[in-house]
Amino acid sequence: MTPETIGFLDSGIGGLPYLAHLRTRLGGGRFVYAADRANFPYGEKTREQVLSATLSVAERFIARENPRLIVVACNTMSVIALAALRERFSLPFVGVVPAVKPAAALSRRRRVGVLATRQTVEGEYMRELIERHANGCAVVSLSSGRLVEFVERELSVASNEVRTERVRAEVERFRSERIDALVLGCTHFLHLEKEFRVLLEAEAIALVDSRDGVSRQVMRLLPQDAGARNGAPDLMYLTGPEPLEERYLWFAAQFGLQPAGTL
Ligand code: DGL
Repeated sequence: MTPETIGFLDSGIGGLPYLAHLRTRLGGGRFVYAADRANFPYGEKTREQVLSATLSVAERFIARENPRLIVVACNTMSVIALAALRERFSLPFVGVVPAVKPAAALSRRRRVGVLATRQTVEGEYMRELIERHANGCAVVSLSSGRLVEFVERELSVASNEVRTERVRAEVERFRSERIDALVLGCTHFLHLEKEFRVLLEAEAIALVDSRDGVSRQVMRLLPQDAGARNGAPDLMYLTGPEPLEERYLWFAAQFGLQPAGTL
């Protein structure tokens, strides 16, 4: 049996921790990742730009790889374009949105923080998510385009000290808010999970993300047997012109993906 192809889509390298999470849980399958490098960062674009970039990269990805399903491993894409993707294409899409519900369930102080992109924080979807799932908790949502940029462009060469300092600067912004749960509502931030965990633990703040729920949903949608990999390599595509920056090769190697060229 040929392995099922599971697609992952993000504006850059943010979705990789979601791929890694699913890969440790799913017996088989073949993983193919696409980063819309040409349109990065999505979080600072208009809704219309995010919508049209998402539909366009999805179309090329589907034409090239014909995946069984696609994980939209980007909160910004998901909150803006998930409905349009489902309307346009017939395969299943699994979205990634800020894990407000589990965070609200954990919070004793009934105060939850969300760190995401500007488009995610300011959008209508987020307002509804809070209304439906925050269970009466106060939600403090902040955006950080600079942390997204750091992860995408500098993480591959950053020292541990610099990583920690960048995260500390973001955690500080929540200090006066008395939150006891913080949602990482942008997939890029998961690359700094360790640094967040250490700093938040010291403040007794729980760290929450959506990987468990997303992997469970993908596994529900796939056939029980996703097909043995049989040595088929997992791939990483990028959009935009060559030459590809060195850092993308670094990320591909870190996550066991073979660079597959441009989409
Ligand atoms: N990784 C994306 C997210 O989860 C956004 C990064 C960007 O601004 O492109 O929202």
